Amino acid sequence: MRTKTVRLFALALVLALTAAACSSDDSSDTTTAPGDTDTTAAPSSGASEVEVFSWWTGGGEAAGLDAMIEIFAETDPDIAFINSAVAGGAGTNARAVLAARLQANDPPDSWQGHAGQELIGTYVAADQIEPLNFLYDQEGWLNVMPATLIPLISKDGNIYSVPVNIHRSNVLWANPTVLADAGLEIPKTLLQFFTAMDTLQAGGMEAPLAMGEQWTSLHLFETIMLASVGPDGWNGLWDGSGSWDSAEVTQGIEDFAKVLTYTNADASALSWQDAGQLVLDGSAAFNIMGDWAEGFFREVGAEPNTGYVWAATPGTDGNFQFLSDSFVLAKNAPNRDSAIAWLTVAGSNAGQDAFNPVKGSIPARSDADRTLYGEYLLSAMDDWASNTVVGSLTHGVVANDSWKSEIDTALGLFLLDKDVAAFQARLVAAQESSG
Ligand code: GAL
Repeated sequence: MRTKTVRLFALALVLALTAAACSSDDSSDTTTAPGDTDTTAAPSSGASEVEVFSWWTGGGEAAGLDAMIEIFAETDPDIAFINSAVAGGAGTNARAVLAARLQANDPPDSWQGHAGQELIGTYVAADQIEPLNFLYDQEGWLNVMPATLIPLISKDGNIYSVPVNIHRSNVLWANPTVLADAGLEIPKTLLQFFTAMDTLQAGGMEAPLAMGEQWTSLHLFETIMLASVGPDGWNGLWDGSGSWDSAEVTQGIEDFAKVLTYTNADASALSWQDAGQLVLDGSAAFNIMGDWAEGFFREVGAEPNTGYVWAATPGTDGNFQFLSDSFVLAKNAPNRDSAIAWLTVAGSNAGQDAFNPVKGSIPARSDADRTLYGEYLLSAMDDWASNTVVGSLTHGVVANDSWKSEIDTALGLFLLDKDVAAFQARLVAAQESSG
């Protein structure tokens, strides 16, 4: 009985999400509903096709994907590219649709998955994707992909995805005019951050920190927690050597609760792009968001230094909280050869150097042409090479889906009741049940 209810609920959710994806009014949206065909490259008669699934449908993201599709159209003009992206930041909608398709044995040929536990704990664990060692051998990718990334996409010696980028999650974006008018510098520590936001509030800016829908608050939470527990403490929360029951975690939750007091009341109604736009408009001073925000800022014509400035999230300087988007090969892919052709482009220098400058990420490959990248991304490349690297929770690196979803549920309750002790107790329980 319970199983049936859960199934019905899951079906209703998928239908609702699919409808939401189809009715997106984003003008830069390239979304197609599963089953629809949006052939970006025209198929010649008898030609093959490849269906690629992602959540890159708008604001900086679709443009990045389109740039890579263009390279694909040049290298494989006879393969029609079916773009099955489903709208919604961080894949919140897309991943539910994908899960339903995989459950129904109707996989896209290739889909976007995050390096780390999301990949290994979900698709590899469920035996839904093929190892790609043959492609790594053929393309010599082990010589150019970062050694830190390979273990996160491997299990038992098999490599399961092709990383296209490295994103940084712990970035504070700020409006330089708002800061200058208030006589403020971009804050480096949490204390400076709070003081700056107090000054801005005293000057009449009610919500100096722009925030969006719930996944963006999980994103905010992970960067504030990193500030409190530090990189070793953060790693310990995931590898079992540390406990969620510590005083540092309590401090991190208290800091997070304080940070929330500076955010906009309509956060749950805003996408991450909407929240970023508040900073560009000067309606807010700050936004904490991954560096896909820079792809969006540039797409809407904002310029680095004059339109926006950046720093590591306060208290996390010297740490690079990272995630990596990668593409997989479905087991029993309907168009396996075409999917391999797509993955070959996704892992290529040309593909990555077309995609990343637009997407707002640095290439996973180490042999990028630096002249193609703007000031922010060059600084990210340098930080990636020199900082202490830790993984993102919100974007699939450190926790498997069930653990992340328990944390997300606890966070949802905390956003309502702000009960620090109850939140911490739920985080401890989540580690015990899923960690
Ligand atoms: C992340 C993804 C990024 C970006 C972001 C916002 O999960 O890795 O590439 O798409 O979501 O949608």
